[in-house]
Amino acid sequence: MNPSLNRIKDSLLAGQPIVQIVSFEEKRVEGFLKKLCQQTLKNQNYYAWDSRNGLSLGETPIPDSVSPARALDAALAVREPAFFVFRDLTPRLRDSLDLIRQVRECYLQFKNSRKFLFLLSPDDYLPASLKKEIDIIQFELPDYEELESLFNKFLDSLAKAGAQVQLSEEEKRNFVTAVQGLTLDEAYKAYMKAFQGQTRIHIGMIEKIHLEKKQLILKENVLEYFTHVLTMDDMGGLDKLKDWLLKRKKAFSKEAREFGLDKPKGILTMGVTGCGKSLASKVIATLWNLPLFRMDMNLVYSGIAGAPEDVFARSLKTMDSVAPAILWIDEIESGISDKSTDSSSSRILGYFLTWMQEHTSEIFIAATANRIDLLPAELLRRGRFDQIFFIDLPTRKEREEIFRIHLTKRSNDLNDFNIPQLAQITKNWSGSEIEQVIISGMYEAFADNRKLQEDDLFVIFGSSVPLATTMEEQIKKVRSWAHNRAVRATTDKEY
Ligand SMILES: Nc1ncnc2c1ncn2[C@@H]1O[C@H](COP(=O)(O)OP(=O)(O)OP(=O)(O)O)[C@@H](O)[C@H]1O
Ligand SMILES: [Mg+2]
Repeated sequence: MNPSLNRIKDSLLAGQPIVQIVSFEEKRVEGFLKKLCQQTLKNQNYYAWDSRNGLSLGETPIPDSVSPARALDAALAVREPAFFVFRDLTPRLRDSLDLIRQVRECYLQFKNSRKFLFLLSPDDYLPASLKKEIDIIQFELPDYEELESLFNKFLDSLAKAGAQVQLSEEEKRNFVTAVQGLTLDEAYKAYMKAFQGQTRIHIGMIEKIHLEKKQLILKENVLEYFTHVLTMDDMGGLDKLKDWLLKRKKAFSKEAREFGLDKPKGILTMGVTGCGKSLASKVIATLWNLPLFRMDMNLVYSGIAGAPEDVFARSLKTMDSVAPAILWIDEIESGISDKSTDSSSSRILGYFLTWMQEHTSEIFIAATANRIDLLPAELLRRGRFDQIFFIDLPTRKEREEIFRIHLTKRSNDLNDFNIPQLAQITKNWSGSEIEQVIISGMYEAFADNRKLQEDDLFVIFGSSVPLATTMEEQIKKVRSWAHNRAVRATTDKEY
């Protein structure tokens, strides 16, 4: 049962004659109200008013009721129990003391006569003078069941039209979760765009739905939407992290809740630069089939979108509305730290901690940090993140995997390379540095009009020094910090 609808019922049962409903979804809300009218009053006295059509009872217009004042008078004159739904009346109350007076009269008269007034609008404005008399209910977005039934209707009609539906049960669920956070209309449109005219329905079409969500998010300019391209196979090594993520693949499913699992909150990856922290955030989204949004803390602080704390709070609300999704906060220490004396950053920290504690939306945070010593202890306390992973420089075996990934990605034949040897001589090199060497080597080869050779790589290795050598002290520090506080992302130990 829809929780907002329950709250409306509670209001009516408590004898509350006027309820304000805040929602963009007029059609959907009224669908519920019509049923509720039948259930509560056992009659069809469902009146609706808007400023173009005036008041009508079902399909029957009530004469001379376009003006809201006349319509309210007509409602006052009705003698039987009835529902009156006024669309977008509340914004008009702003500058009309007369209308406010009439609403108050309705309150007094309806109170004991089983007549109910619903003020329906996307706007949550209500004059202060009426706040005591009126319950305000934010009508929640459609829940899983509602969206599932929409999706099933869609599938039925597609199947009737002769389309082949090639979806497993799990894939069907993915299509339903993909539209969570959208209104019913938006979800309908997203499905239309993805499926219209298609003869074969498959999981690949989910990308179109993620794109629809992106449109929604782009209105917030500190959040950036990423389309998924990187998979687990693009990430070398890090077996422990991979294992953790795989185990939680269905973490946001209904089954997981029914089984009694709590929603995962998020992970923090910290460690040496260029070893795959950002990469891991992208991989989670693909693996879990959830949209990925990156919050740019520099943009939050830039002030271009407004006061930083307001922008931050608004963005988290936006995230709530597109759940389930991954919120990626890269280099979190640059935005959320207690080392700064700036008051907006301490307010942001406070807000973030509260949100982490209290939000009920299915948002998984993938945060990364380089300088974890800058992070406030409250943020690292047990129970905030599900796990803190330490990503160290790759081990020898991991470097082999990284070589294979990046050589193959750029169309090289692995048989031309002695991978174990390459891994052997690149001790202390980060994944990103290995990738860069391959890219530089390919430029050399391309200029000479030939394929990349192992020797190209050896030459570059011989003439460069990895960052880890110049930053030895810092890396030692990071390792010793991580020792007791974080879980190594790798089980392998042989560097
Ligand atoms: N384990 C890995 N497997 C495959 N590629 C890797 C790995 N680690 C790093 N890379 C390559 O290096 C690039 C940079 O890595 P990434 O951005 O994830 O590093 P980071 O840990 O976030 O570093 P920084 O602290 O500098 O932001 C990746 O896009 C990827 O191409
Ligand atoms: Mg990074």
